[in-house]
Amino acid sequence: MTKHRTRAIRCAILHFPVATTSPEHDFCYYHDGLLIIEDERITHLGDAADLLAQWQTEHPELSVEHHPGKLLIPGLIDSHVHFPQTEMIASYGEQLLEWLENYTFPTERKFADPDYAKHIAEAFLQQLWRNGTTTALAYSTVHTCAAEALFRAADKRNMLLITGKTCMDRHCPDYLQDSPESAFEESQALIAKWHNKGRLKYAITPRFAPTSTPAQLQALGDLVAQHDDVFVQTHLSENQAEIAWVQSLYPDAKDYLNVYEHYGLVTNRTVFGHGIHLNEDCWQRLAEHQAIIAFCPRSNTFLGSGLFDLKTAERFGVAVALASDVGGGDSFNMLRTQGEAYKVCQLQGFALHPLRGLYMMTQGAACALGLANSAGNLNPGSHADFVLLDPEFNELTALRMQSRQQANRTNRTNRTNRTNRTEQTDPSQHSHHLAEDIIFALSMLGDERAIVETSISGQPVYQRSAVDTE
Ligand code: GUN
Ligand code: ZN
Repeated sequence: MTKHRTRAIRCAILHFPVATTSPEHDFCYYHDGLLIIEDERITHLGDAADLLAQWQTEHPELSVEHHPGKLLIPGLIDSHVHFPQTEMIASYGEQLLEWLENYTFPTERKFADPDYAKHIAEAFLQQLWRNGTTTALAYSTVHTCAAEALFRAADKRNMLLITGKTCMDRHCPDYLQDSPESAFEESQALIAKWHNKGRLKYAITPRFAPTSTPAQLQALGDLVAQHDDVFVQTHLSENQAEIAWVQSLYPDAKDYLNVYEHYGLVTNRTVFGHGIHLNEDCWQRLAEHQAIIAFCPRSNTFLGSGLFDLKTAERFGVAVALASDVGGGDSFNMLRTQGEAYKVCQLQGFALHPLRGLYMMTQGAACALGLANSAGNLNPGSHADFVLLDPEFNELTALRMQSRQQANRTNRTNRTNRTNRTEQTDPSQHSHHLAEDIIFALSMLGDERAIVETSISGQPVYQRSAVDTE
């Protein structure tokens, strides 16, 4: 059997083909669509009615994978997640700084052991895949073997994964400390070995300003200057006590963001986790740098950090990508993360549109990260990373979706009686509203059982078994 194969998948299909500030409008939806994959990449996407005949002529020996009632979307992108924290997800009782001391650092110590790092790297990827995530920007630990374990495991499945060795040379236990020199050298060696190997990318990773000396931030800034296509990931303005601590450690900095600016760590490939407590001047500078914010709503509520101000980010034109931040976040499920983002926005008086939420973990994230030629969409030429969703995976979601379909049918009949406008009588117009309602319902009610299949580079990495829906 050849490693890769040709596949044709027929079902409802939804994605965002281009970068947009209006994902509510600039989406592409096929009620009865066909996605054709050859080897690792997508070759065709369109209406089944248009593409089926051609497919059947060209591949009479191959059957179409037909999934009536299912919805196919691009694989989800988690723009900020800590792989070593997989096992300490849902740790009770603390806010950021105590949570790091009491739970995080002792857990990360275990990753000095390469076998342990390999075991958790594989367990972590399984969690991503069973939740529909196909790309992650992941933190590792200070140990190079941990970053290597994750790179190796992702590379086996031709996954677009970005990680890097975490750098910390103060304010953490001795057993987790590196130095300015070792952080520079080890990061540089990892870049040489892994960056752009297959679909892998490297992120230079100072954990956050408090755990790096000025000398270490300087060394890492020098490394950034030598590599114009690597990523930078770190944390910014997550928690009030953290912010006050940064100000005391870096008294000459104008604010927290300015610490990273001063050392050359803010580029258009820098992804800051959180950015909850920022003033307008910071938003303006983030926009000028074209830096990216990872909005981690489940972490921000779980750790009691605060409510992310999405409206202001949008007003300043700062790119925002959704992220789980496991283990600060309490779920690997990006759809449920979108659900929490909706609640965070509701607490600030507005409703996050389901398509905007979906955009922030597919094409929006891919465009912000410069990855849209490979991930985040279903455009021909992109790698075939996708998720097949079951909108009616249990009794409650079946009831919820069926009552919604009935309501839509009734509304449509009423509207058709009143007007002849084609947009109101065209069934595909009405069904895209169902598609966005599926995304919304699954963002509130979904779990792993809603994921029928997750594929990376055309190959299934997760398939739901019959047992999962019993
Ligand atoms: N700030 C510094 N390290 C961390 C971490 O591991 N998780 C979160 N949420 N914030 C951090
Ligand atoms: Zn984090």
